[in-house]
Amino acid sequence: MEISKNIKYIGVNDHSIDLFESQFKVPNGMAYNSYLVIDEKIAVMDTVEKGFTEEWLNNLETALDGRVPDYLIVHHMEPDHAGSIGAFAEKYKDAVIVGSQMAFVMMKNFFGTDFSERRLVVSSGDVLNLGSRDEVFIATPMVHWPEVIMNYDTKDKALFSADAFGKFGANDVSEPWDDEARRYFVGIVGKYGSQVQATLDAIKDHSIEIICPLHGPVLKDDLAHYVALYDRWSSYEPECDGIAICYTSVYGHTREAVKLLADELHAAGKKVCVFDLARDDMFEALGEAFCAEKVVFATTTYNMEIFPFMHTFINHLVERAFQKKKIALIENGSWAPRAAAVMRELLAPCSELDFLDDITIRSAISDANKEQLIALAKVL
Ligand code: FEO
Repeated sequence: MEISKNIKYIGVNDHSIDLFESQFKVPNGMAYNSYLVIDEKIAVMDTVEKGFTEEWLNNLETALDGRVPDYLIVHHMEPDHAGSIGAFAEKYKDAVIVGSQMAFVMMKNFFGTDFSERRLVVSSGDVLNLGSRDEVFIATPMVHWPEVIMNYDTKDKALFSADAFGKFGANDVSEPWDDEARRYFVGIVGKYGSQVQATLDAIKDHSIEIICPLHGPVLKDDLAHYVALYDRWSSYEPECDGIAICYTSVYGHTREAVKLLADELHAAGKKVCVFDLARDDMFEALGEAFCAEKVVFATTTYNMEIFPFMHTFINHLVERAFQKKKIALIENGSWAPRAAAVMRELLAPCSELDFLDDITIRSAISDANKEQLIALAKVL
């Protein structure tokens, strides 16, 4: 596939994968992107997951049309991209491997070699000339691993952005970008907001017309939209004025409370997303919790703790620097309700959370609970 006259797409789609990174559901598969820049010199941008080595090498050979690559630029060493470096190095023995110092440390760890006889170590500001174009390197540590480096192609004004601006889903499946990119962003780099902010600052002086990420589609139109979303997500500002209700329910009573609250909010014209954390995709719930202005947590007291799915969910939020929200806690407990206190303790590391009054249900929702839920809906 041609991205521009001199930039070709040579990546692959993975429809056999069930869980990306062994935890994120990817019902529409995953794309491992790789690119070829053809000039007087030829550079390959990243490899693919090792299960797709043969398909990728075939794509590369077709795009090369009889020429041979001079460089393999390694932006990121996670195995979904680095899994075919060995096969490439074996097939193209004269190609120079280009990456950050840390990338070569990781190559030694993963493959037992750091290609010391045929490598080029680059850092921020370094330039690789391919003939009529320069590739300008921009180090972007922790977006998504510490070795990550992006590069900007001066001729096509293309940013090779590593994991940034990627999404879940194979490229042969058409779906809206924002939702799956948000779920991917929050799940994968949600913790690293300040590093993403530093990346946005580092790329802002380049005139970018194409973004070539390592997952998801190549972005060419309305780039300001994607950059604005990345700015918002990485600064932990709500994306919408909606309400995310995240709950667990053992016998349905807590669910009944959530339904009453959601019905009241819907009737008031509010945007509401409701997630049963035991059954719905937890990372979609995570994305919506980051997106929303207000989040309601509802769960059961369980072994003097909280229901395990809620515990896991809050751990995911805290790990990812969840912050800047209005919060409501609904607890259920038949003889010693403690869930609200436990949730509050678990959320303590998060900054700028504004807690509303808790609601306590003792088994089934009472008339008093109904009034509390209607009052909470009004506050929300
Ligand atoms: Fe797509 Fe961080 O690897």
